[in-house]
Amino acid sequence: MQAKHFFSILFILSLMGCRQETKPLTGLVTEKAMVVSAREEASKIGTAILQKGGNAFDAMVATELALAVAYPYAGNIGGGGFMVYRKANGETGGLDYREKAPLAAHKDMYLDSLGNVIPNKSTLGATAVGVPGTVAGVMAVHEKFGTLSLKEILAPVIQLAEKGVVVTQKQADRLAEYQDIFIQVNGDSTFFAKTYHAGDTIKYPALGWTMKKISDQGKAGFYKGEVAQKLAHFIQANGGYVTEEDLAKYEAKWRDPIEFEYKELKIISMSPPSSGGFTIHQIFKMMEPYKVSEFGHNSAKTIQLFTEASRRAYADRNYYLGDPDYVDIPMEALLNEGYLKERMQDFSFEKATKSSEVAHGEVQITESTETTHYSIVDQYGNAVSATTTINGGYGSKLYCDELGFFLNNEMDDFSAKPGVPNMFGLVGAEANSIAPEKRMLSSMTPTIVEKDDKLWMVVGTPGGSTIITAVAQTILNTYEFGMGMQAAVNAPRFHHQWLPDAIVFEPNGFAPKLIHELKAKGYHINEQNNPIIGKVDAILVLPNGSLEGGADKRGDDTAVGF
Ligand code: GLY
Repeated sequence: MQAKHFFSILFILSLMGCRQETKPLTGLVTEKAMVVSAREEASKIGTAILQKGGNAFDAMVATELALAVAYPYAGNIGGGGFMVYRKANGETGGLDYREKAPLAAHKDMYLDSLGNVIPNKSTLGATAVGVPGTVAGVMAVHEKFGTLSLKEILAPVIQLAEKGVVVTQKQADRLAEYQDIFIQVNGDSTFFAKTYHAGDTIKYPALGWTMKKISDQGKAGFYKGEVAQKLAHFIQANGGYVTEEDLAKYEAKWRDPIEFEYKELKIISMSPPSSGGFTIHQIFKMMEPYKVSEFGHNSAKTIQLFTEASRRAYADRNYYLGDPDYVDIPMEALLNEGYLKERMQDFSFEKATKSSEVAHGEVQITESTETTHYSIVDQYGNAVSATTTINGGYGSKLYCDELGFFLNNEMDDFSAKPGVPNMFGLVGAEANSIAPEKRMLSSMTPTIVEKDDKLWMVVGTPGGSTIITAVAQTILNTYEFGMGMQAAVNAPRFHHQWLPDAIVFEPNGFAPKLIHELKAKGYHINEQNNPIIGKVDAILVLPNGSLEGGADKRGDDTAVGF
């Protein structure tokens, strides 16, 4: 070969090499339908339900319950959640299946005689448990929108529990990390006292039995009869408050979602008692007057604008929000465009605002980051966005061996004492104080986005208080910065929540020069604590109508579809 040709080929090959390196990462693309969740097993079961002709709501029931089997870290029947839907005809709605305080609860239940918060009482073991809402939630969805029988939907879930689930490396690491605390709370003969390695199969016969009760009797199979008796007895025997009456009285609630426009997009997200829709609404409206796309992705200007909007939105969130059935939230005033414009009047690109100068400086929020989200689009054009949680990783760590599941520690999402931080550093206000049957404030932000009046994105994530900023950044990555779904999910994220007054950056995603520039403008950067921020599971409708999944590889998350 002549040297000239050899070098031309080398040049072409090197170009191909470059192109491969810079080619944007694309997630799974399917033509008709998709489920994206924290575990492949759950995404497959949800998709199989769609393939049988079921709709997104049938698939929601299957996916949520399959996550309870395959992902006990956050998937659950011992917790609660929120769901936002958009039907093919454009109709939207939201479901609140958040846990609630037991009837015996009272404002000072986690305080000692001197009025101090008793360590661990709202976080660890039976005293931390709120009345679970998950089974009521999925049964309400099935009753309103389901097309397949419960038995058909639950059959693969029961089979999964009986046949077992293969332990991933990430799961093995988590189980090892929590093993001592499982034994501390439940004794050394408890199910998860054993050591599990990656590749082991864990069978869940007790959970399979409980799922059969739900399959046979629906909501009553969990909230009444044998399961309810065993569950209430178990919680009380361990010193907790949830009674059979609490279980029998639990109802999921249909609520109107928060809906607003951001430039060409219409964003549909969850309303209180989740703070997600409210806070994302405030953040987006404070950013809307700016040409964000021109600032550049994760540039100093974009980070500043997003941070300043978040600072102001979280200050309002922490002070005003709570269960709307118990507190009057001045929603209209707080979401008024004039008010939000006014809030940003003192913002300048020259210098950081101090959180102490933003109103309501005495309250602060931090929450558990251990929740899980799944997104579904079906072959009929319906979309479901659902986020579900037991709060901490494995909730209260209290595991009911007889029924096969962990119980939540969601009571910690109330402010046990206004002004005092909970286990995650969140300090709440009076609006989120404890009362019998009240729902605790949440950050869960299951969201659906329309563009040109059509379904465009289904998105959500775990991450406690970082949920809201992670969802907002995923939408901005796609809309303002032109990324595909998987690329938008992969992009490094940052977070600011008013208090503590610091920006948290994900590791390795932000250049030292950028951090230096922000510091010079007065921004506090939290360099000790750089956790991953969220595990976003999302679906984007592409211009040709096909679907691109964004499954977050920060976890074992997987998109499946057809
Ligand atoms: N437990 C986390 C949340 O509800 O936001």
